Amino acid sequence: MRHFLDLSDAGGDGLAAILADALDRKAARAGWTKGRVDADAPLAGHVLGMVFEKNSTRTRVSFDMAVRQLGGQSIVMDAGQMQLGRGETVADTARVLSGYVDAIMIRTDDHAKVEEMAAHASVPVINGLTDASHPCQIVADLLTILEQGKTLPGLKVAWLGDGNNVLASIIEAAGLLHFDVLAACPQGYQPPDAALARGKGRTRVVGTAREAVEGADIVATDTWISMGQAHAETKLAAMLPFQVDAALMTTAKPDAHFLHCLPAHRGEEVTAEVIDGPQSLIWAEAENRLHAQKSILRWCFGQIG
Ligand code: CP
Ligand code: NVA
Repeated sequence: MRHFLDLSDAGGDGLAAILADALDRKAARAGWTKGRVDADAPLAGHVLGMVFEKNSTRTRVSFDMAVRQLGGQSIVMDAGQMQLGRGETVADTARVLSGYVDAIMIRTDDHAKVEEMAAHASVPVINGLTDASHPCQIVADLLTILEQGKTLPGLKVAWLGDGNNVLASIIEAAGLLHFDVLAACPQGYQPPDAALARGKGRTRVVGTAREAVEGADIVATDTWISMGQAHAETKLAAMLPFQVDAALMTTAKPDAHFLHCLPAHRGEEVTAEVIDGPQSLIWAEAENRLHAQKSILRWCFGQIG
């Protein structure tokens, strides 16, 4: 059973296979309408069940469209309208859904819940974001970087702001694919030791935005307040020196690009000038969620890697 709870489930080779497949499949359907099924329809006869305990635009729609383009179908479930939302256990939900669908994607808070889902499901389980990680997002980010003709080994990625779930998956990817991460995070908001440990020594946490961005190939950030976190003025104040603005971008490499998983807060973690400027790849990054999900699904079903 192939679960995709974190990038290390696929490992470096699996991740490379997912990226190569996504680039090939994206190229093969260039110019097609979005609803047209890929020529090989590799998930014909398959249904993906998606459980959301948190809001989503990209993950929800990209997974739904991914399954359709692969020739399968999906069912989207809001946890609040399920018995899960009134106390039915994750384990029981996993057993029941396994009888109906061929794979389960879950977005939740506590990472232990996706592990519990995987432990009790008899179909593949995919992590669609937890408080600890967001592996599917980083597959899309890596695709976006590769599309620019950049190579991953030796690449320098600067992260600014919160040491959150998205950073944790970037750190893990760096360890698997041999690139370097410089994370500039304020005291008290640095990535957890467990996340750093998965990065195989390729991530360094620094104290200033300038130290991280100088000479970087990629500059990335995310919202300062993640889903489920209280809106705290103290946190926003601590984050302010880590805002990505145009002056900071000039210290990166001249051909550096800006990434943000979205949703964004212009004027907080990034200025409008940068996120809507020529170095920003955010719309390609968002579209690549679709292409990434397709190859993640194919990996889960043992079709690649
Ligand atoms: N980036 C991302 O996961 O977006 P959604 O929250 O809209 O799914
Ligand atoms: N760190 C953000 C990512 C959203 C896609 C959150 O968890 O809310």
